[in-house]
Amino acid sequence: MDYFRIQGGKRLAGRVKVDGSKNAALPLLAAVLLTDQTVTLHNVPALTDISNMISLLRELGVEVKGESGTVTLRSVDETQVHTRYEIVSTMRASISVLGPMLARRHRAVIAMPGGCAFGERPIDLHLRGMQSLGAKIELNAGDMSVTAPQLKGTTIFLGGPNGSTVLGTANVMCAATLAEGRTTIECAACEPEVVDLANMLIKMGAKIRGAGSPRIIIEGVKELGGAEYTVMPDRIVAGTYAVAAAVTNGDIIIDDFPFDCMLAVVDRFDQIGVVVDRLDHNQDPMHASVRVTSVRGLKPTQITTQPHPGFPTDLQAQFMTLLCFAQGNSVITEKIYAERFLHVAELTRMGANLQRFGPTVVVSGFTQLKGAPVMASDLRASASLVLAGLAAEGVTTISRIDYLDRGYHRLEATLNSLGASVERCTPNAIIETQSSASAQMLEAKRAPSLNLTAAAMP
Ligand code: EPU
Repeated sequence: MDYFRIQGGKRLAGRVKVDGSKNAALPLLAAVLLTDQTVTLHNVPALTDISNMISLLRELGVEVKGESGTVTLRSVDETQVHTRYEIVSTMRASISVLGPMLARRHRAVIAMPGGCAFGERPIDLHLRGMQSLGAKIELNAGDMSVTAPQLKGTTIFLGGPNGSTVLGTANVMCAATLAEGRTTIECAACEPEVVDLANMLIKMGAKIRGAGSPRIIIEGVKELGGAEYTVMPDRIVAGTYAVAAAVTNGDIIIDDFPFDCMLAVVDRFDQIGVVVDRLDHNQDPMHASVRVTSVRGLKPTQITTQPHPGFPTDLQAQFMTLLCFAQGNSVITEKIYAERFLHVAELTRMGANLQRFGPTVVVSGFTQLKGAPVMASDLRASASLVLAGLAAEGVTTISRIDYLDRGYHRLEATLNSLGASVERCTPNAIIETQSSASAQMLEAKRAPSLNLTAAAMP
């Protein structure tokens, strides 16, 4: 598997544009199952999670043209209802097909997702929502079989121990568009990706109001039609680029920065001493251009992750890297996924001074991170290691970067265009570049190449 080799210490400068949002695009793609008409999506990011969702939709009888950018989809065979464990286990967001399939095909058989790298991720709220709409659920050999000849609108409370659920809200909202009568979702997720989905569903003919607030009201309609829609920019990618500017003491202009839904993040940047300056206040606030620069002495702060509009859990790891460079102690508390701290041990390998107490990590700055071999463990943890590598002294190698490719399109190319030195390497490539004079040694190295798994990489 590929790994990154990062030569740290380069100051980043230049201009980048944020791609379409992965977490908005995934449920938007699933929503094509709500109609037999053509749906055209623009600004679809080129990511492995998106390719996986497209493969799943093909298995579910959807004709798809394109893989990224502009993607045209049409559901042509509505007899397919099975989502296999092999797919669900690689991408939890495949649960997004549940609501649309149930609403239009009246049946969905979906493998129960297991845990993930950062802990247990239940789907009880999704299922409670479907049951409230009248669906029957049976568990058989690890598959949930969910059926409903006709969904019926009702009031559904979607709050869980850690707030609402983003994909659960998306699922219930999709299902309710074709239910009989009115559905009210109380304690709905307010995330901008839910608003993006509601906006597309409205274009398809759904009657939805209140998306973006904790109460969403949906009046069921008989059918939905096709639509053309542009995916919103990715707020987590935008935040990651901004941290890249800050940790390298750089100066980056970021276009398509969804400023309007990043106020909690901009507020923390401001506290830390990172300047996020809007270049044109007349621009659409979801597609702003900002210039990110930072003061020399960064200040420590407190961060608590929360549902939107609070600070997003998906930027927690990246900010942990940033706070290693602040002058003093910062406190980060994770309130969405208490176990989402796989990056802590790896950052510590690079010299970070981190102490974890349950869901809280105390970050003691100022630390000059040192390059080291580290291993990515989930998408956002990987991003935090790349950021650490950019700012560290010396060379950092990061294995298992397939995690990174799930949510960042060729991150190395973007960072290199800003002056970074990030090389994507494959273990075999290292072997191929050995001097031919050491042919015998090369042979010896080739022998175990079958074992060159992620764990064996630098
Ligand atoms: N939860 C429940 N029961 C449920 C569903 C969720 O208790 O039925 C809990 C979860 O365990 C968690 C909290 O509710 O503590 C929020 O989870 P949520 O359901 O909102 O997460 P999700 O919809 O599965 C999306 C993003 C995640 C992001 C979370 C939180 C997508 C594809 N994924 O997941 O993104 O962390 O919302 O904002 O939209 C990522 O991009 O790296 C990523 C993990």
